[in-house]
Amino acid sequence: MDKSLPTVLPVAAAPSDARPAKCAHRRRAWRLLLATVTLFAVTQWSYFGSRLESSSPAVQVPLHAAEILDKCSLLNVKPGPPKDFVLREYSDRFVPGTNPTLIKNATIWTGEFNGTVSWRGDILLDKGVVQQVGNIDLRVLSRFRPEDLVTIDAHGSWATPGIVDMHSHLTVDSAPSLRGASDGNSRKGPILPWLRALDALNTHDDAFLLSISGGVTTSLVLPGSANAIGGQGALIKLRPTKERSPTSMLLESPYSTNTTEYDPKVAFRWRQMKHACGENPDRVYSGTRMDTTWAFRQAYNKAREIKVAQDEYCAKATKGEWAGLAPDFPEDYQWEALVDVLRGRVKVHNHCYETVDLDDMVRITNEFEFSIAAFHHAHETYLVPDTLKSAYGHPPAIALFGTNARYKRESYRGSEFAPKILAENGLQVIMKSDHPVLDSRFLLHEAQQAHYFGLPANLALLAVTGTPAQVLGQDHRIGFLKKGYDADVVLWDSHPLALGATPQQVWIDGIPQLAEPHVHAKPAFLQSPPKTPNFDKEAAATLDHDGLPPLLPAHATARTVVFTNVSEVLVKEGHEIHELLSAHSAAGRGGVVVRDGKIACASASVSTLTCLYDLHVGAQFIDLNGGSIAPGLLSYGSPLGLQEIQGEPSTSDGYVYDPLVHVVPQIIGGDEAVIHAADGLQFTTRDALYAYRHGVTAGVTAPKSVGLISGVSTAFATGALHQLEDGALIQKDAALHVNVGHSSGGPSVSTQIAALRKLLHGSGKGALGAWFDKVTKGTVPLVIAVENADAIASLIRLKAEVEANFDTSLQFVFAGATEAHLLAKEIGAAGAGVILANARPFPHSWEERRVLPGPPLSEQNSVAALHAANVTVAIGITGTWQARNTRFDAGWAALETGGVLTRSEAIALASTNLEKLLGIHATNDDLVATTGGDLLDFTSKVAAVISPRRGLVDIM
Ligand SMILES: *[C@@H]1O[C@H](CO)[C@@H](O)[C@H](O)[C@H]1NC(C)=O
Ligand SMILES: *[C@@H]1O[C@H](CO)[C@@H](O)[C@H](O)[C@H]1NC(C)=O
Ligand SMILES: *[C@@H]1O[C@H](CO)[C@@H](O)[C@H](O)[C@H]1NC(C)=O
Ligand SMILES: *[C@@H]1O[C@H](CO)[C@@H](O)[C@H](O)[C@H]1NC(C)=O
Repeated sequence: MDKSLPTVLPVAAAPSDARPAKCAHRRRAWRLLLATVTLFAVTQWSYFGSRLESSSPAVQVPLHAAEILDKCSLLNVKPGPPKDFVLREYSDRFVPGTNPTLIKNATIWTGEFNGTVSWRGDILLDKGVVQQVGNIDLRVLSRFRPEDLVTIDAHGSWATPGIVDMHSHLTVDSAPSLRGASDGNSRKGPILPWLRALDALNTHDDAFLLSISGGVTTSLVLPGSANAIGGQGALIKLRPTKERSPTSMLLESPYSTNTTEYDPKVAFRWRQMKHACGENPDRVYSGTRMDTTWAFRQAYNKAREIKVAQDEYCAKATKGEWAGLAPDFPEDYQWEALVDVLRGRVKVHNHCYETVDLDDMVRITNEFEFSIAAFHHAHETYLVPDTLKSAYGHPPAIALFGTNARYKRESYRGSEFAPKILAENGLQVIMKSDHPVLDSRFLLHEAQQAHYFGLPANLALLAVTGTPAQVLGQDHRIGFLKKGYDADVVLWDSHPLALGATPQQVWIDGIPQLAEPHVHAKPAFLQSPPKTPNFDKEAAATLDHDGLPPLLPAHATARTVVFTNVSEVLVKEGHEIHELLSAHSAAGRGGVVVRDGKIACASASVSTLTCLYDLHVGAQFIDLNGGSIAPGLLSYGSPLGLQEIQGEPSTSDGYVYDPLVHVVPQIIGGDEAVIHAADGLQFTTRDALYAYRHGVTAGVTAPKSVGLISGVSTAFATGALHQLEDGALIQKDAALHVNVGHSSGGPSVSTQIAALRKLLHGSGKGALGAWFDKVTKGTVPLVIAVENADAIASLIRLKAEVEANFDTSLQFVFAGATEAHLLAKEIGAAGAGVILANARPFPHSWEERRVLPGPPLSEQNSVAALHAANVTVAIGITGTWQARNTRFDAGWAALETGGVLTRSEAIALASTNLEKLLGIHATNDDLVATTGGDLLDFTSKVAAVISPRRGLVDIM
């Protein structure tokens, strides 16, 4: 509203009858009052207008009295949908022309009743709304012209509400990341409640369709965490709109108009605001935690002063006691959003990790009397449930990652058991992506992991649907699949908690989002929730040890360990994986006898274990309960074994010099220096031990580098105590590693390739020259971290040049290689190998924007495309925390190929293929025994590692 306009006759501006019914009472009352006051004002002004200085007891009523009273009447209105919202038959987001859709014969999980029910039935979508769920009334169907009604036969597939991501930076940190569209964090100060993510919403983010293809239909776009108060979030639906504008994507505008002012004519909707405590705002602005907390208190004190002034002003004004009141309503355009927090109209989303920060924030909420909707990231919340429960108003919900932790100090105690423990304490659990930190396309996988580690299935599904909807104040329209809700539905190809669950179709506002979905039939066992293992003991140990449970496994004390109830044994022979035993059908299930860490004999039935009788005195028996024994996995791509906490340089080996950018000191050989990762190895890092406990028995790591030359990688045992222990160093030197691309900010890509050309043609001297000599001779692989297909093409040409020149055959391996699928045939023909940096690609940068997304957006994933071209392909990771998830990544990658890859080939992706590509010729024959199911899915748990090389069995 324009405050400079005189409101001489404000009666005309009285709110219209279009205002929500719930305020009708109050409205009538104050309209009467307003009319009286206005009449009084008009007469008083004209009567006393000429004698304002007089001592008359008559009161001056401000010119904008009506406007002020209007504001007063709104002060305590709480946000929420209009009362009759539940009766709606069409959505405000309905796009005319959208066909009604009948999804027949789905297994419907509605989210209702605490997420505990599902039933077979049909779903009718029309006018942007779920019209019916269950048995659809034929009379309802007869309303549609048959040619309009789109009918989908779900054949019993699972249907859920669309996924709600409560913490995303989609569109403000958009993909690919470009300097011109990096709008997530303002650098203008610690306190910025007046900023709005909507104002930076990039509608050209490549991630929209990717996220939708994972079932995400609604995202809360939040400003980043560089500020204590970073600004207001935008809650958007992800589908493209006719208008193509940011505003048209908003789920519900908090205002009727697109300004920041409440319009009294409509129901208020919830606003969302970002807060952050701890390391991020400290580093950017405030300095210390003490400074950040003061910044919060100063800001809230300012907001409180305004709120109190308004309340006091209105208390008098509404009684007509204008005497002594200022002519203007006390308000401040800049602070109105924070005042609204104090009025309980804003959902506060607080990025906050650590006990000290959680405690600070809880005290602040009690000091200023506002509540926090959710603590996000919140890695230590599971340690302090009572603190959370003492927050003002209500305990905050907790929005978490599944297993992403230890990337900085305040996430060091992050636990995979946090969702389970928090839920057991009666706190609401939400899984979130922090997209693009995690690709929100796979937000459901966070819920799957939470479930795997003990969060009940109903709560795990609610954690990405109904619970965030409720916390956002939107559970009247999203997060549930029920009559009257937005027509946001996902039809899955398996049970949504099964590994690799992929949408067959996604509807947003009743509009199908996948033009030609590629769907592979999934095995029957994936159609029901996975029978996950029990982790009660591990969760209890985590609490006992204040978040840092001991992770080193115990060596078996008996020389003989007998595994019973084994369904399958796979072993490595050279770079191949063979089946040693299959006892899937045998009634008694198989047995395996291990003596001094080596398999002595194996048989389909324990009673026929020939070697058992000689060896079993004092043997330890381990019942695998139908589980399997399979080759230990290998992790490559992150600094695993070189660092403890990514964000803490003192816990890490550090970075090597880039000879294209730095003057490399002569004392290490100048630019002829070669750095060996083995010299920087750290053992018993938590990520290495977590990896070990999840079947990753070895790691190959190159020196940390963002420049051209990284150095020589090393292969090590993830479960060893130190590098001098027997078998800890598997192969001191593996491959030579270089980087080509823009990650370094160094010279041009062509300059980098020019340098490699010289080095490959023998221009190198000293140690570096010697290593390149080995590459040129073809005895050592050159692993080139490169994403872009054009750069890969140049490197393939370079390889041919060198080979022609020296009549050799080079071992080139492209690592990262997100765009390698575009050159699958050429890479295959060149005899090069590929290590995909991530099993599931994301267009983080321009150089890797051309992803092959895999189902449902493409029939093949990169693994299948490269495999089909005879490329030796393997999968890697980028962050050390990911190492533990290798088994799921491999299993998932194979599922995406729709049966093209066998289970042995899936294991090879993260073991033998990696060894082949990385030049690992040393013996690495560790085996992993799992209980319940096999290594690659959610039904199993690692029970033991059998290490012939180290001569031991480790019991988890
Ligand atoms: C919801 O389900 C969880 C886990 O299954 C249970 O602990 C909780 O008590 C249930 N809540 C209600 C209100 O039934
Ligand atoms: C629903 O689908 C299941 C699985 O394909 C099938 O067995 C069943 O007969 C179908 N029911 C109806 C009513 O079509
Ligand atoms: C913005 O506000 C104007 C004025 O109320 C309204 O006409 C217009 O439809 C609004 N735009 C959107 C996208 O909501
Ligand atoms: C891959 O190898 C197989 C067997 O050697 C051969 O038949 C096929 O043509 C090759 N495919 C490509 C794309 O090179």
